[in-house]
Amino acid sequence: MKQNLQRILHRARDRGDLDREEIVELLSVSEGTEIHALIAAAGSVRRACVGDEVRLRGIVEFSNACERSCLYCGLRCGNRKVERYRMSEDEIAASAREMARFRIPTIVLQSGEDSSCDAERICRMVRRIRKETGLIVTLSIGERTREEYREFRRAGADRYLLKHETADVALYGRLRPASRFENRLQCLAWLKELGYEVGSGNMVGLPGQSLESLADDILLMKDLDIDMIGIGPFISHPDTPLGGFPNGSIDLVLKTIAVARMATRNTNIPATTALGTLDPDGRTRALAAGANVIMPDFTPAPYRSHYEIYPGRNRTGADQGIFLENLSRRLASAGRTLGYDASGWRE
Ligand code: 5AD
Ligand code: SF4
Repeated sequence: MKQNLQRILHRARDRGDLDREEIVELLSVSEGTEIHALIAAAGSVRRACVGDEVRLRGIVEFSNACERSCLYCGLRCGNRKVERYRMSEDEIAASAREMARFRIPTIVLQSGEDSSCDAERICRMVRRIRKETGLIVTLSIGERTREEYREFRRAGADRYLLKHETADVALYGRLRPASRFENRLQCLAWLKELGYEVGSGNMVGLPGQSLESLADDILLMKDLDIDMIGIGPFISHPDTPLGGFPNGSIDLVLKTIAVARMATRNTNIPATTALGTLDPDGRTRALAAGANVIMPDFTPAPYRSHYEIYPGRNRTGADQGIFLENLSRRLASAGRTLGYDASGWRE
């Protein structure tokens, strides 16, 4: 291994204070031994900073209605092939109870950006889930006003996921028409201010994306003190304007996760569903590269199959009981355990 690379890798492992150039250098490694060393270093940081436990967050995609037209996403409003749904409050509550039955400590309520799903309805849902199950509630429903974020918080929501998607402002503008990067950052700042634990993240392998901008993704999330970092491959959806473009590379996603772990130390990093979609071993490989969270999908049939952000998304895991059992067995052989407590607030 080149001496310079070795030096950067040691600092990444011991302190994590990398600059943009050094991050690009790490993301560029291509030799087997170098990739192996990068992954191993991230694994040791993960173990030292967040332990061996893999934390669980259950997800319910309660509506696929969306008013936006992001070029990469199958749920974009222009896609007429999608059968749109909105789960009823009783259906959502039933999914939450199912999660509690599996001892999953926290629920993520996710949807497209749907302004007709007003703040009052969201607050009612949050209060009901808190009351009936005691689950920690995470919302992932896009850009809203500060006032709405405050109401959700008052209703009992503790966490919020809002991916910045890409830190390349020009690319962001091209991929998300009628949406401003600046507003995204404003929303993240509000959420932090209001005391949410905040998740963000980015896609890897977007058409026109550079390694430098991936370095910026990592540095941005570090600067904003983001608590949970979701990094997944771009997966080309045929019914979108990006239909003909190649998927993101799994290796590059794993390298990005590894560097993000070393740069941000004690964050929560999920092994994303998108990785599991491109590679049956994708999530296990992510857990070895620095990830420490798994998000099983509790969206009931038939809705789940209609939440097709990218193709093949819903092939993974039909029965949650079997999924968790298999996962637990596989983790044990890697010296890891499944975490059933609500831990996650960063120490
Ligand atoms: N490939 C991978 N991830 C995607 N997302 C949307 N479209 C795609 C795609 N084609 C992710 C985005 C978004 C979330 C809803 O799904 O990161 O935040
Ligand atoms: Fe809507 Fe989110 Fe898909 Fe954009 S990425 S089209 S906001 S669901």
